[in-house]
Amino acid sequence: CGIMGYLGDRDAVSVLMKGLKTLEYRGYDSVGVAFLNDGSLKVCKKAGRIAVLEEELSSRKYRAGIGIGHTRWATHGAPTDANAHPHYDCTGKFAVVHNGIIENFHELQEQLKERGHRFNSDTDTEVIAHLVEEKYCGDLSAALRLALEEVRGSYAVVLISEHHPDLLVAARRNNPLIVGIGDGEYFLASDIPALLPYTRNVYFLDQGEMAELTPDGVRILDGAGNPVSKEVFHVGWDARAAECEGYPHFMLKEIHEQPRALRDTMGSRITAAGDVVFEELKMTPEELRGFRKVVIVACGTAYHAGLVGRYILEKLARIPVEVDLASEFRYRDPLLEPGTLAIVISQSGETADTLAALREAKERGCRVLAVTNVVGSSITREADEVIYTWAGPEIAVASTKAYTTQVLVMYLLGLLFARAQGLMSIEEAAEITTTLQEIPAKVEEILEQKDLIRGLAERYSDREDAFFLGRGLDYAVAMEGALKLKEISYIHAEAYAAGELKHGTLALIVEGVPVIALATQDDLLEKLLSNVKEVKARHGTVIAVCLGENEDVAGSVDHVIALPEAPSIVAPLLAVVPLQLFAYYTAVARGCDVDKPRNLAKSVTVE
Ligand code: G6P
Repeated sequence: CGIMGYLGDRDAVSVLMKGLKTLEYRGYDSVGVAFLNDGSLKVCKKAGRIAVLEEELSSRKYRAGIGIGHTRWATHGAPTDANAHPHYDCTGKFAVVHNGIIENFHELQEQLKERGHRFNSDTDTEVIAHLVEEKYCGDLSAALRLALEEVRGSYAVVLISEHHPDLLVAARRNNPLIVGIGDGEYFLASDIPALLPYTRNVYFLDQGEMAELTPDGVRILDGAGNPVSKEVFHVGWDARAAECEGYPHFMLKEIHEQPRALRDTMGSRITAAGDVVFEELKMTPEELRGFRKVVIVACGTAYHAGLVGRYILEKLARIPVEVDLASEFRYRDPLLEPGTLAIVISQSGETADTLAALREAKERGCRVLAVTNVVGSSITREADEVIYTWAGPEIAVASTKAYTTQVLVMYLLGLLFARAQGLMSIEEAAEITTTLQEIPAKVEEILEQKDLIRGLAERYSDREDAFFLGRGLDYAVAMEGALKLKEISYIHAEAYAAGELKHGTLALIVEGVPVIALATQDDLLEKLLSNVKEVKARHGTVIAVCLGENEDVAGSVDHVIALPEAPSIVAPLLAVVPLQLFAYYTAVARGCDVDKPRNLAKSVTVE
């Protein structure tokens, strides 16, 4: 879910609506705002996209200088007008927006009902408004603090009240909330891009902290209500980073930003001599040498980057690596003996499952290294070490540039470990880093082939199933290719280790089913081509992705997407790009909402 708050001289409703549009990627099944119009609290909310509410508000003239807004991804309660945020109490004097989950809401709701409260929605959030109403004795922050003391779970919450026309109160536990500091105006948002049109100076609220925003400034309070001093963080990017800039969709823009994102992520981490350094890491080479095992934990696309990471770390650094889905990791009682390094990968740095896994790993004594794209995010605050992917803000729900930069970091880490373990000379490392430095230009070459890929996508866009095959590193990329296609085009897409095909999936290959075969791993090519023959024998249609011109491949399949020549080991950084474009153009051809696929959200801050 996305939260926005405003206090200042501008038209609060416009600021909120604009901010919510930027945050819409966090959830988009309902939307609402609450503001003080001539001193009285007004709540407007609707099921559906932001445009629906905008339409409704456009016919009215409100003049408000303070307000809160919310764009929702439904957890408790279906996406209806009543369940949309903001939620309010029985007196209609207090309204709240909330991101997170109140675990004991049933219990609280029962108690509140017994005490005479009437509920308007099925959400967990509404209990906060009613609790605030009960606790209020003239001090709005104290009322929110006391209300939250009764709550178990996670929240970023913002409260507004008719009793305090110049005050916004906010609190966070486990869900992100950022305060924007303007010139005599103040903002709250779940993420930085919503603030960029107004300010680049922000405070990140920490666990358990609250903020009071008044025309005189911002006060940050700790969990006990004592003021804390905080440093202002200046955001480096400009507002354009969060705009579409002439592309029809954020996803296409972000696919095209990959060469830049990869260059920025490599940046000064590759030395002139071709070695790898991470100046931000506090770990010494001795400590690096001391790790006996690595566990990589992540969700979604970041998990797929972790799968590539396993191959690379094992191959280059000969260290055993496990990769786990964050939502499974903590419930399987993992064996984390001393000397285990946990690497958590997360674009947003906010994914609740990944954050929970991080905590589990820390509790069990692991050192935790986070690979993330969002400066100041929750995961960066709790990890022992942080490596940023400098992809810039990623807005489309389907991740693209974040994935390639995560994968790149896996290569750099593999080299770092290999060098620390004494397994690789600087010359050997330089050979690989030189290859990595050539990747951005090669990605540019692939982007130039987009018409070919669009043609293929359009040709097969009416199919309801697709398969992605690969062996070794190609299998990891196949999983990401299948996820991209299913999440934005709604085609049923599955990835298989090509060798597994004959153990079941082959039964699904019938005439004309598109099968995308990744064929970038030289040492596995013959075996892969045998699997392709199995598909062809059942009249499947095969599109192969290979490195350079390859007659063996071309002679075995229906269509070829030829990547620029490169060593097999770096192929994932290239091979994923046509798969992203294929998914994109398929979704466009099917008329799907590419940047905001149904039922999904970019940042999933609930477990
Ligand atoms: C959501 C997004 C995916 C993303 C996953 C993990 O499901 O839709 O694109 O890969 O969360 O997100 P993270 O921010 O932790 O990388």
